[in-house]
Amino acid sequence: MTTNSDSGMPESPPGVDWDAEAVTFDDEPDHGLRDPEVRRAWAERLGAWLPALPSDVLDLGCGTGSLSLLAAERGHRVTGVDLSPAMVDLARAKLAGRAAVFLVGDAAAPPVGEERFDVVLVRHVLWALPDPERVLRGWSGLLRPGGRLVLVEGVWGTVSPVGIPARRLTGLLAPLAGDIRVETLSDDARLWGREVEDERYAVVARPSLQ
Ligand SMILES: C[S@@+](CC[C@H](N)C(=O)[O-])C[C@H]1O[C@@H](n2cnc3c(N)ncnc32)[C@H](O)[C@@H]1O
Repeated sequence: MTTNSDSGMPESPPGVDWDAEAVTFDDEPDHGLRDPEVRRAWAERLGAWLPALPSDVLDLGCGTGSLSLLAAERGHRVTGVDLSPAMVDLARAKLAGRAAVFLVGDAAAPPVGEERFDVVLVRHVLWALPDPERVLRGWSGLLRPGGRLVLVEGVWGTVSPVGIPARRLTGLLAPLAGDIRVETLSDDARLWGREVEDERYAVVARPSLQ
């Protein structure tokens, strides 16, 4: 798989073999959260983005379940969905014994039936999905009244950048969300295990059309 050489962030062209990526996915500091300082940095951010009370969290494109685990450690019940069976296997192992279920499926049309959630959490997935406007509408419809979208995205690399700028994402959310909060993540090297110069951010949005 290619990497965006100036960022270390894997590019995600259509057709990328996520099953093949799964075995080494957690080697990146912000993926595996193996470094206690990196892990603490994400745990603190997630603590601020998620509800204070135990809630139902849908982690779409959950990968190996690193953010799912942080959410479960805060007492939240997690449903994770990923297209890659290998990623789902690793997530299941990582959260064994926790209040968590993992499903193989498409983040754009998650196989959750009529179930609704307090939080839809998505990190580093939306930017690579076709028709993000339609996808965001669908995700808003998966929320209970008062629920929130927690979207962690960015534009990786400076030579050949890939991703979705915060300005574009907030523009797509504007018709859906009454309250949209953007948090810059580029300036916190603890999150990435190193200094970064590209655009990295989180958006917490509370849709008004639920
Ligand atoms: C960059 S990784 C992010 C993983 C995880 N969200 C994290 O932040 O650690 C992208 C993940 O999205 C998954 N993915 C890509 N396209 C998907 C889709 N259409 N539906 C569900 N998962 C998808 C991949 O299998 C991979 O696990």
